[in-house]
Amino acid sequence: AQNRLLIKNGKIVNEDEIVEEDVYIEDGVIKQLGRNLIIPGGTRVIDARGKLVIPGGIDPHTHFEFEFMGTKSVDDFYQGTKAAVAGGTTMIIDFVFVKKGESLIDAYYTYRQKADDKACCDYGLHMIVSYWSDRVREEMSILCSEHGINSFKMFMAYSFMLNDSELYKAFEACRKLGAVAMVHAENGSIVSQNTERLLAKGVTGPEGHELSRPEEVEAEAVNRACTIANQVDTPLYVVHVMSKSAASALVQARERGVRVIGETLAAALGTDGSQCKHPCFQHSAAHVLSPPLRSDPSTPRSLMISLAQNDLQLTGSDNCTFNKTQKELGINDFSKIPNGVNGVEDRMSVIWEKGVHSGILDPCRFVAITSTTAAKVFNVYPRKGCIAVGSDGDIVIWNPNRTRVISAKTHHQAVDFNIFEGMECHGVPEYVVVNGRVCVDEGLVKVVEGYGNFVKTPVFPPFVYDLENAEKLRPSNNGIDDLHQTPKGEDRKVSPT
Ligand code: URP
Ligand code: ZN
Ligand code: ZN
Ligand code: ZN
Repeated sequence: AQNRLLIKNGKIVNEDEIVEEDVYIEDGVIKQLGRNLIIPGGTRVIDARGKLVIPGGIDPHTHFEFEFMGTKSVDDFYQGTKAAVAGGTTMIIDFVFVKKGESLIDAYYTYRQKADDKACCDYGLHMIVSYWSDRVREEMSILCSEHGINSFKMFMAYSFMLNDSELYKAFEACRKLGAVAMVHAENGSIVSQNTERLLAKGVTGPEGHELSRPEEVEAEAVNRACTIANQVDTPLYVVHVMSKSAASALVQARERGVRVIGETLAAALGTDGSQCKHPCFQHSAAHVLSPPLRSDPSTPRSLMISLAQNDLQLTGSDNCTFNKTQKELGINDFSKIPNGVNGVEDRMSVIWEKGVHSGILDPCRFVAITSTTAAKVFNVYPRKGCIAVGSDGDIVIWNPNRTRVISAKTHHQAVDFNIFEGMECHGVPEYVVVNGRVCVDEGLVKVVEGYGNFVKTPVFPPFVYDLENAEKLRPSNNGIDDLHQTPKGEDRKVSPT
């Protein structure tokens, strides 16, 4: 009976419609959808009357056990994925950090070793390209063809940033492989200069963080990355779009034909940069990530509207958690505060609260930006990201009528702070089914360490680059292309509920 589950009387929400149907799952896979299903005896039945049955969240942006800025993030693959599941996320995609000069393939194996015995839900991996060489290019190819990697993140800031020529080569390599080029868009040279200037003036506290990385420094990098990607005809994925300026840079780039996807974060939607001016260092430093939370208080709502309008396409958490004592590395110098915040557990609830409960998103769009689009972009759709016959049994029974209050005292993460502390959220994941197993059961978290599998993310069909005929050669079967042809909002119809 363990491997058979019937979810009855709920409303199934996919990105394109809401239907009142039951879901039957067997051996981890959705086997039947409909009313009055005929199912084997001994099947466990969960009554979802009055609740929504949604695809498990996919968080395309986490950093578990991430060695960064002289320390290591505290949520490991067990605690991180346990928290994910507790919050209604059933797949995460983590970033493999590659030290300068290190083999990408060695780094990949290191991560597999860290994750395989610990992950409580399925996971995929992106690679970070922290330096450029011909060997890196070859390893990217091997990772795509043999190891189920289809995405590479390049940084335009930090000591391991790539310069424009290197970005050009890395983006071009991605296009040739049919891989997703991802970029951290901030002008690292300007950030360094601003940091020096601020520290010399005696601005050393967390309030200096955003001053050193203002909106236009993010927007400039977004624009430059889009320009470079367009020169080599590579679709681009901008991670953690944190400001109104960066979001409009994306819109403008798209207007001139750049194919670009924008991700924003639960953190940016749920809180803002005023927190970095809090007099208590532990509080303000806990909110430091890059690009920064913006002090313009209209930012969270504006980014949510961008998501509703399809100016931004999806959300991650960028979960990269450091304890208070680790944040103290930057007690005398804001530029040494380890960058990163929580979010893997609370992303779904925060976005439901600020997006759906506040009336900006409909439930279908909620599913799109928390799950379906990530599955499409990273090429695991329709296995993940939807409730359909043949898809993995990754399902959340979401109760929109119950509330919970977020707190570090009750969260499942290892970290000792929560940037959403005290937020009351409508929308509670009462049951979370991971590959057919009930891992949150009436709110009780019952995960199994190592239960999750590594999910290979296959590359898209690559195509030959030809500058003269670039227009002609644009693939029509590339999932990212399809996403771009989606008219804003109009194609999504919500059936009456
Ligand atoms: O501040 C952040 N975002 N930390 C994690 C690393 C990254 O750039 O995503
Ligand atoms: Zn980043
Ligand atoms: Zn405090
Ligand atoms: Zn990140």
